[in-house]
Amino acid sequence: MSTTPETTAAEKKRGAFSSRRVFIFAAIGSAVGLGNIWRFPYTAYENGGGAFLLPYIIALLTAGIPFLYLVYGIGHRGRGSAPLSFARISRKTEWLGWWQVGICFVIAVYYAAIIAWALRYMIFSFNKSWGADPETFFGVDFLQGSDITQGLTLDFVAGLLVPLALVWLSVIVIMALGVQRGIGSTAVVFIPVLVIAFIGLVGRSLFLPGAAEGLNTLFTPDWGALTDTGVWAAAYGQIFFSLSIGFGIMITYSSYVGRKTDMTGSGAVVGFANSGFELLCGIGVFAALGFIAQAQGVAVTEVAAGGIGLAFIAFPTIISEAPGGAVIGVLFFGSLILAGITSLVSILEVVISAIRDKFEMSRVGASMAVTIPATIVSVLFFSTTSALAVLDVADKFINNFGILLVAVVMMIVLAWGVRILPTFTDHLNVYGTVPLRMWWIVLMSVVTPVMLTFVLISEFVDTVKEPYGGYPDWLLYTFGWGLAAAVIGIGILASLMKWRPETPMTIPTSESAEEAQR
Ligand code: PHE
Repeated sequence: MSTTPETTAAEKKRGAFSSRRVFIFAAIGSAVGLGNIWRFPYTAYENGGGAFLLPYIIALLTAGIPFLYLVYGIGHRGRGSAPLSFARISRKTEWLGWWQVGICFVIAVYYAAIIAWALRYMIFSFNKSWGADPETFFGVDFLQGSDITQGLTLDFVAGLLVPLALVWLSVIVIMALGVQRGIGSTAVVFIPVLVIAFIGLVGRSLFLPGAAEGLNTLFTPDWGALTDTGVWAAAYGQIFFSLSIGFGIMITYSSYVGRKTDMTGSGAVVGFANSGFELLCGIGVFAALGFIAQAQGVAVTEVAAGGIGLAFIAFPTIISEAPGGAVIGVLFFGSLILAGITSLVSILEVVISAIRDKFEMSRVGASMAVTIPATIVSVLFFSTTSALAVLDVADKFINNFGILLVAVVMMIVLAWGVRILPTFTDHLNVYGTVPLRMWWIVLMSVVTPVMLTFVLISEFVDTVKEPYGGYPDWLLYTFGWGLAAAVIGIGILASLMKWRPETPMTIPTSESAEEAQR
C-alpha cells in the first residue's frame, strides 16, 4: 500500500492541487468573499450584535464544519466534479450535482459584475469622483440605472462594460491555466495579500475618531435576540453562504486533493480561518462606520449598511471624509477585488470540471466553453442600465432557494435515500485528524437538515408575504423564482444525458487509474 501514489498520472492530467497547503489556500480563497466583507458585519449587527456570535459559533460548529466534511466525503472519495462524484454514489443523485452547476453559472455571471464595479471604484477613490453625493452618483451617474418598473432596458453603459470585460479576461486566463497553476497559484498569492491589506484597513479604521462607538454598536449584545428564531436563521444562512457550501465548490476542490490527505483537519482550518477573517471584517467595517457617524453627527445606526449600499455608498462617503481617504479606498476596494476573484474562480471551476468530466474535454477547451458564454451573458445583463435590479433579484433568490435548498435536499438524500454517511466516515477517518463518529451522522442526518428546513421556510414565508425589494412581479417571477426553478430543471435534464463509455462509474482506486492511463 505504501507505494500507491497520492495522485495518479491520470488525476494529474485531470487537475490536482500540488499539496494540502495549496488546497487549503484555494478553499479559503473561495470561502473568503464578499460574504465576509459586506454581508457578515451588517448581519451580525442586525441580529443581536455581540449576542449573534453565540448562534453563529453554534452554526459553525454543528452545521458549517460538519457539512464541509460531508462534501469532502463526496468529492475526495468520488474523485470527480460535483455531477460525477454524485453519479458515482448513485446515478439517481447525479442531478444534485448539475443543479449546483446551474447555480454556480448564474452566480458567476453577476458576481463578476460586482468585482468590476469594485475595480472602477478603486480608481474613483484617488480623486473621489463620486463628489458630494455618492448615492446619486452610484445609481445615476455610474450605473445609469433605468426605472425597472418601466421594463427591462438593456442599453450598454461603457463605464460598466470595460471593467467587466477586464475581469472576465483575467478570470479566463486563470481558468485556462488550470487547477494548480491557475486556481492554486492565484489563491496562494492573493490570500496573503488580502489579509495584509485588510489588516492595514482595520488598523487605519481603528484610529479614526468615532471608531470605538462603531465597535460598540456592532458588539453590544442584545441577549433578547437569542429567543428570536429569525436570528438563528440568519446565523445558519451566514455560515452556509460564507463557507461556500451548497455550491458544489468544495466537492470539486476536494476531488483535486491527494488521497492520503487529512481532510477533516483541513476543513477545521478552513472553517476557523474564514470565520476569523469575517470577525476582522466586522471590526474594520464598523470602526469605519463609527467614524462617518461621528463626522456627520448622527448615530452609527443611521449609517450602518451592508452589501452594495455599504461598498458603493457608505464607503465612498468614508473615503471622502477621512484623512488619507484614498489609501482606505485602495485597501477596501482592493480587498473586495482579491476576495472576489478567488471566489469567482471557485464557482467557475464547478462548471468547468463538470463539463470536462462529462464530455472528456481538454482543460482549455472546457474553460473556453464555459467562460465565453458566461462572459457574453454577464456583459449582456450587467453592463447595462438594468444591471442593479436584475442582480439584486437573482442574488436573493438563487442564494435562498438555490444554495440553502440544495444543501437540505443533499443531506436528506445522502442520509436517508442512499444511506451513504457511514461510508464517508470510514473514508475520511483513514487520514483525518478529527475523528467522525455517531455525532457527525446525527448532525448531518437530523439536526442540520431540521435547522435548515426551518430557515428555508421562514425565508419562503417572508418572500411570499412581501414582494422582495418592492420590485415588479414580472421581474421576481423571471429572474427570481423562475431562475431558481430553472436551474433545478436544467439539473434534472443534464443528469439524463449519458456518460461516455470510458468514464468509470466506480470510483477509481489509485491502481486502476494508473492502469487506465497505460
Ligand atoms: N463564501 C463566498 C463569499 O463569502 C460565497 C461565494 C463563493 C460567492 C463563490 C460567490 C462565489 O462571498
